[in-house]
Amino acid sequence: MKQFHIDVIVGARPNFMKVAALYSVAHKYPSLNLRLIHTGQHYDRAMSDVFLSDLKLPQPSCSLEVGSGSHAKQTAQVMHRYEDWVIESDPDLCIVVGDVNSTIACALVAKKCGVPVAHVEAGLRSHDETMPEEINRILTDSISDLLFVTESSGIANLAREGRAQDQILFVGNVMIDTLLQLRDTASKLAYHDKLDFKEGEYAYLTLHRPSNVDSPEQLQAISQEIEWLAVQLPVIFPVHPRTLNSLKEMKLLSRLEKCSRLHMVEPVGYLESLSLTMYSRVVVTDSGGLQEETSALGIPCLTLRHNTERPVTVSLGTNILIKDDWKLFRETITRICSGEPLSDIAPIPLWDGKTSERILSHCCGYLKTRSA
Ligand code: UD1
Repeated sequence: MKQFHIDVIVGARPNFMKVAALYSVAHKYPSLNLRLIHTGQHYDRAMSDVFLSDLKLPQPSCSLEVGSGSHAKQTAQVMHRYEDWVIESDPDLCIVVGDVNSTIACALVAKKCGVPVAHVEAGLRSHDETMPEEINRILTDSISDLLFVTESSGIANLAREGRAQDQILFVGNVMIDTLLQLRDTASKLAYHDKLDFKEGEYAYLTLHRPSNVDSPEQLQAISQEIEWLAVQLPVIFPVHPRTLNSLKEMKLLSRLEKCSRLHMVEPVGYLESLSLTMYSRVVVTDSGGLQEETSALGIPCLTLRHNTERPVTVSLGTNILIKDDWKLFRETITRICSGEPLSDIAPIPLWDGKTSERILSHCCGYLKTRSA
């Protein structure tokens, strides 16, 4: 039996959960040899290794160890180093996930070396080109051969951009595959207990978008709302390294440290984050993944952004876009604290735990047809 070599690219924190779903079903496709390529965009233990172990991912076949840098430097380093690997190891397919710099860097290298590219989480659009991720999404989709879509907005966006119907594959959401596989483990972990918080009686806060944490005015405004939030409800806040740097530089850290009900901790791993989410009263975030995870779990999510590339989380899920409307933020938190139900939610099509099987099955068919 011919074996096809597939490079599966990870680089930054949210990538690990997505590829873990593919690895969990890979044994059903013996003709596919998945090779994990870690670009090293994220490198701290809390941002990388802990995900490999939580998610039982294999050690990478190749570590590019690029580290941090400006967008151009980081993207260029990934390209430079991944090209050497591609030339040496001749992959049959390159699977990239999400929208981080490693995603576009590896997609571009593979495509120019004649290796077809599959993009998992294709078609998402915030329509906000000030977001680095939006540029990465548009460019990656424009050169991908297989476009695996999580929600119907993705089909419409790709069709509008002129992508061929037969390349657009509506398969669902690999993040939700991983969530469903590890929900019981995360539930038993009850991480809030370890931090001395009570089930349903705390807010889980995450924050890392440049639009929120790189601007002093915006971070100042958000810090003020965090202080208010902590008066209403205890808050658990794992602080992303980008955010920590900004809070220190902008002299906001010591002010937040004085909030007695705000518990700032190091970035947490996947199981801890899922556990904190499922037992929280509300999640306040600017993360894309948490908008999806809260929707799947039925936990209210207040998103500190003007837009979302994941509109299904608003229309069918639990997501509310705050758009810097702090009156809306405070009113919604007050309603949640008083136990008032928010709007109805409905199951999201194909977020059923079987997405990775659909993806690998398509890849198998595609590679067999291509090599015939
Ligand atoms: C990246 C992604 C973003 C994703 C986020 C998840 C891009 C453009 N952005 O943003 O889409 O939502 O990851 O976390 O790809 N740092 C460390 N240790 C690390 C990694 C980073 O200390 O292991 C610090 C460095 O100071 C670095 C900064 O965090 O300069 C930002 O890291 P970077 O990878 O550039 O972007 P993120 O903000 O993490």
